[in-house]
Amino acid sequence: MRLKLRNIFLVYFVVSSAGLLYALLQLGQQCDCIHQMNPANNVHRRDNSLRGGAENLPVIYVVTPTYARPHQRAELTRLSQTLLLVPDVHWILVEDSAERTTLVADLLAQSKLQYTHLHVQTPLAMKMKDSDPNWLKPRGVEQRNKALHWLHENRSSRDHGVVYFADDDNTYSIKIFEEMRYTQKVSVWPVGLVGGLRYEGPLVTGGKVVGFHTAWKTHRPFPMDMAGFAVSLSLLLSHPNTQFDPNAERGFLESSLLGSLVTVGELEPKANNCTKIWVWHTRTEKPKLKQEDLLEKQRKGSDPKIVV
Ligand SMILES: *[C@@H]1O[C@H](CO)[C@@H](O)[C@H](O)[C@H]1NC(C)=O
Ligand SMILES: *[C@@H]1O[C@H](CO)[C@@H](O)[C@H](O)[C@H]1NC(C)=O
Repeated sequence: MRLKLRNIFLVYFVVSSAGLLYALLQLGQQCDCIHQMNPANNVHRRDNSLRGGAENLPVIYVVTPTYARPHQRAELTRLSQTLLLVPDVHWILVEDSAERTTLVADLLAQSKLQYTHLHVQTPLAMKMKDSDPNWLKPRGVEQRNKALHWLHENRSSRDHGVVYFADDDNTYSIKIFEEMRYTQKVSVWPVGLVGGLRYEGPLVTGGKVVGFHTAWKTHRPFPMDMAGFAVSLSLLLSHPNTQFDPNAERGFLESSLLGSLVTVGELEPKANNCTKIWVWHTRTEKPKLKQEDLLEKQRKGSDPKIVV
């Protein structure tokens, strides 16, 4: 009788252990599935797999000039988390600063994106004063040119990709990135809330760009916003001297680059023949920090150790 009870317990123990083990294995598998669904996963690949080979998607090189200001970290967080939703992106972030800042370095390190962190300070003579209206001089010229230089130095005709100049204050739908991925030369699309209009963009007839919907300096060769075009990497690499002109007249910065690369007739209209708005030229309101200044005078300002 005693022996029998012990056997029953033994069988019970073995069966329940097996059940527990099975349940644990199932849990482990579920964990893997969640892991695979994480869009950030693609960034753990080595750099070589992000160079756009025959079996890979062309890489989207997103070039973002940025400068220190109270809402810089908020803007970069928003953009970086949009880019996390796009496969095969390489973010080239270029600071307008004498050196790389830890604020940006930390943000990039935690972003889970494939990235390159560059910096170049805009010469003082070119720099906008805080009081200047934001359209007086083009911002970010030196920084975008620095990124172009990096691409020339570090990428070759074997690398398939497209280059997009994405400022940190715009709003991007993830749709626009897939539109630009297979750019042959220069692809174009409309941009919302820019140029004093609801949108500005190319006019398309029969699948070709025949003009532009714009109301400001309509004689510009390429009257488009920076956010409204992307250039194929191979086209850029085959024009080593092509840069943005730091002395370009207001509104002519985009034309200074595109003029040496394509004709208007060669532009590739995307976003449903330029009828869909998937990027907006939003601007963040400058944060008001009057109370902060007042408290600082009483040495009671916000804790400087807390990074905002
Ligand atoms: C990219 O090019 C720069 C020179 O502009 C060089 O210093 C750097 O080592 C290169 N980086 C890579 C990853 O090849
Ligand atoms: C764009 O227009 C061309 C010519 O009318 C047409 O063949 C093509 O299908 C259009 N593309 C899209 C995405 O609607």
